[in-house]
This record gives sequence, structure tokens and C-alpha cells, in this order.
Amino acid sequence: MKKLSIGLVGCGYWGPNLLRNFSSLAGSEVKVICDLDMRRLNHMKARFPSVEISTNFEEMIARPDIDAIVIATSVHLHYPMAKAALLAGKHTFIEKPMARSAAECDELVELAAARDLILMVGHTFLFSPHLRKIRDIIENGDIGEIRYISCRRLNLGLFQKDINVAWDLAPHDISMILHILGEQPKTVNCQGNCHVTKGIEDITTMCMNFSKRVYATVQNSWLDPRKVREMTIVGSRRMIVYDDVQPLEKIRIYDMRVETPPHYDSFAEFQYSYHYGDSYIPYVQQDEPLKIEAQHFLDCIHSGEKPLTDGKFGADVVRVLEASSRSLKENGAAVDFATASTASTPSTSRLAAEAPTSNGHAQGKNGRSKAATVRA
Ligand SMILES: NC(=O)c1ccc[n+]([C@@H]2O[C@H](COP(=O)([O-])OP(=O)(O)OC[C@H]3O[C@@H](n4cnc5c(N)ncnc54)[C@H](O)[C@@H]3O)[C@@H](O)[C@H]2O)c1
Repeated sequence: MKKLSIGLVGCGYWGPNLLRNFSSLAGSEVKVICDLDMRRLNHMKARFPSVEISTNFEEMIARPDIDAIVIATSVHLHYPMAKAALLAGKHTFIEKPMARSAAECDELVELAAARDLILMVGHTFLFSPHLRKIRDIIENGDIGEIRYISCRRLNLGLFQKDINVAWDLAPHDISMILHILGEQPKTVNCQGNCHVTKGIEDITTMCMNFSKRVYATVQNSWLDPRKVREMTIVGSRRMIVYDDVQPLEKIRIYDMRVETPPHYDSFAEFQYSYHYGDSYIPYVQQDEPLKIEAQHFLDCIHSGEKPLTDGKFGADVVRVLEASSRSLKENGAAVDFATASTASTPSTSRLAAEAPTSNGHAQGKNGRSKAATVRA
């Protein structure tokens, strides 16, 4: 199979990880890296001597010996760079979030489809073996019906100048929630506050309402003393905690639930039944999600198949972010997901002035049930 030539733009914090992974795969070669900062380019050249360096994005995408472009620049550059890359006939990979508005995302999706090019968004967590394990567990019916999902992604910094904390951190949580539930939310609410940079929220709490009364919350902060990367999925039979800060045992399944009695005659008889069983850590083969993601992009280019995180999926994540920005402006009011993006208009001004302102585990053998009277 033909080795694909990659041109990568953006060698800041995240770009080098993409460079390392695409360089490590047998099916691709990073031919050129592009950045405006010569110090970053020289630093990367010292680590990857065979790669060519460039400060001119237009020149790089015009090269006939480049098959695909990987974009790891700031969010406001995603749309113009991806559009230029697609117009130049290149398969395109964009880091998350895909763009600063759903309208921009939709245009990129149409452009890629019209030119028969692969467009993929870097929602890395969907390629995590841990998330795949969680999805298997849910699909096997082991936790029962999902009742709610809560995510917390907190740390101190890194403060962004052009996007708020939701646009920076929540794409990971939103992408996992949409993937697990397999549907779009009906409404989105978001509240937050700016403490450090005027007009840019550094703490946000987002709520998404889905069908069948399923509910998901996402809390994001750049103002927290601890690094927290946690997702709790509460099912009617069991509960899962995914703690991505743990080095090895990231997933734990709790055999815990609360049941209401099927019938009762008097209020005094009304009892909740609390079930406390074992907790269980499933085995997960460790693999770097970014490597799996990079390989998936190459596979899709060869096969023509739709990527798991295609442009449409990236647009859905951006639609949730847009709805959250509208809700922030409306003091946390519920925003209808279906109409959220129609009110948002991409602009050429700073992004800050735009939208972002605002397995097999059976019940443990020691499992036991305990009845508790709620009120006498
Ligand atoms: N998937 C993940 O887990 C993950 C993690 C972190 C960041 N990201 C995403 O990666 C992207 C980049 O984030 P970052 O933290 O590396 O940003 P960064 O600011 O550290 O790096 C961006 C780089 O782009 C360069 N650049 C700016 N304008 C340019 C231009 N016109 N031509 C060429 N180069 C240009 C800058 O010089 C800088 O080196 C963002 O979209 C971010 O959300 C993804």
C-alpha cells in the first residue's frame, strides 16, 4: 500500500504529538512541518531530522507530493486552513474543536464530500481503548439503562486567549458523551464565570438533556488546584467511573444501585433498596489513542470509509459548544440544540468576541442488598 505523505501545520504544544505518531506509522511519512515560529521548527527538526520545515502554509498545501494535511493550530485557524487544504485536493485532519462555528464545519463537510476527500477531526478519546471498553460494557447491557453521565475536567491553566474553558476542554467530554449515547442532545444549558481574563470564562458547567430523560453534565475549569479527568456513568444496574488520571486502572465498575419497591400500600412501607456489591477493574490493553487515531485517518484515506470522527461528528460537537455559548449569554437558559447554531454567525474578529464568550463482570460474589427506610 502506498505510503501517504503528510504535511503538518502547528508545532506548538500538541503538534509534536501528531508528528511523533504519524512518523511512527509504517503507512505514513511526515514530509513537511509548518509553523510561523522558526524556534519551534528547528526544535522539531533536531528531533526528526528527515522532515522538511516551512513557514509558508500555502506553499506546503500546493505541493503535489503531499497527500494529506494535519492541522494543529489555534481554533480560529482551523476553518481557513482546512478549507484551503481541501480546495488544494488534500485529505484533511483537523484538531478539536473542528472550527469556531457549526456553519464553518458544515461548509468544510460539504467541500470534502464534493471533492471526495477524507475529513477527520481529532477527537482523541474516541480512540482510547478505555472508552472502547466502556462502550462494550454498555452495549453488553451490563450496567442497565444509562441514567446520567457526569464529567469533570479540571486543572490550573493553561489559560487560552481566544477561547473559553468549555471550548478548550469540553470537546473531549462532549465527544465521549455523544459517542456513548449515540444521539444529539435536545437542549443545552451552561453557566460560568470569568475570573482571570475579561470575557473569557475560566469555569463552566454545562448540562445536556437527551431523550428518555438521560442527562449529562460537564464541568470544566482552568482554576482548580488538582488535575481531574473523570467521567461517571450511572446505569440502572451498575455504575462506571473512568478516571483518566490513573496510570493503569482507569476504569472501575461498581455493582451498586438503588431500587424503588414495585408497590407499597402506605407511605411508612415505602423503602428504597440500596444494593452494594463488589467493584471490578476490567483489563484493558494499553495503546496510545493518538496512534490509533492517526492509523484510522490513514485507513480511511485508503479505503474511502467515513472516519469515526468525521466532519459531521466534529460539527455536532461544535453545535453543542455553540449552544453552550448562547446559554452562557442568556444566563444559563436552556438552548434548543436543533436551532442553536442558526443564531451564531462566524466572524473574522477574535474568537473571544464570538461564540466562546460566553465484559463480563457478574455480580460480585459478596454482593448484598440492604434496605433503608427513607422516612418513617
Ligand atoms: N486532541 C487533544 O487531546 C488535544 C490536546 C491539546 C490541544 N489540542 C488541539 O490542538 C490544537 C493546537 O493546540 P496547541 O495547544 O498545540 O496550540 P499552540 O498555540 O501551542 O500551537 C499552535 C502553533 O501554531 C502555530 N501557528 C499559528 N499560526 C500559524 C500559521 N499561520 N502558520 C503556521 N503555524 C502557525 C503557532 O506558532 C504555534 O506553534 C488546538 O486545536 C487544540 O485544541 C488537542
